[in-house]
Amino acid sequence: MRAVLTAGPTLEPIDPVRFLSNRSSGKQGYALAEALAALGFEVTLVSGPTALNDPPGVTTVRVETAREMLAAVQAALPADAFIAVAAVADWRPAETSDVKLKPEKAGFAALKLVENPDILRTIAALEPGARPRLVAGFAAETHDVLAHARAKRVRKGADWIFANDVSGDVMGGAHNTITLITPDGETSFGPAPKDEIARQIARRIHQALAR
Ligand code: CTP
Repeated sequence: MRAVLTAGPTLEPIDPVRFLSNRSSGKQGYALAEALAALGFEVTLVSGPTALNDPPGVTTVRVETAREMLAAVQAALPADAFIAVAAVADWRPAETSDVKLKPEKAGFAALKLVENPDILRTIAALEPGARPRLVAGFAAETHDVLAHARAKRVRKGADWIFANDVSGDVMGGAHNTITLITPDGETSFGPAPKDEIARQIARRIHQALAR
């Protein structure tokens, strides 16, 4: 079986020395890629910039921006499962300056943002045949976690959403607590180390596809 995953942050350049990004470390996505490979999946991991080593047994494709991430995911399909773990920057600078912006020239006040493509929504909307049988996303929330995550599953057209409470030190930390939301019910994993959560989630994905 084949799985394609995204992980890490995306990085959206403003000028040669500055960018927009976020605090995602990539740990949960890398751990899930490794756990799926250990179960025998052929895994492609499309990763934004992280400090992590490529997981063993996984084909890792490194990208920077959300648009590069989408293109790399499309190139890696077809797959049985697509799991979007990346913290994709929702917005990017409308233009990337070739020269370093100077604040005194209103370079920052004039910074215009445009919306990035939604990778999860794009893959979930593929025609049957092209669409992976299982499309799942993560919902990183700081409050009303389950309510937001349930709504996100429907809004994005995903089969599953893993709800992730990031109000503490989850981003960058070693531990996580996750609730899997499916059309048939909800299951909680953790609190546990991210690699243990990854092994439990990987088994659940394997079971669902083996059915
Ligand atoms: N996602 C994506 N492409 C984007 C934004 C998000 O693929 N441009 C995916 C993430 O990988 C994750 C899920 O969508 O699996 C939810 O991401 P999240 O950042 O929580 O949701 P947003 O769409 O940013 O929603 P909001 O900011 O309204 O909470």
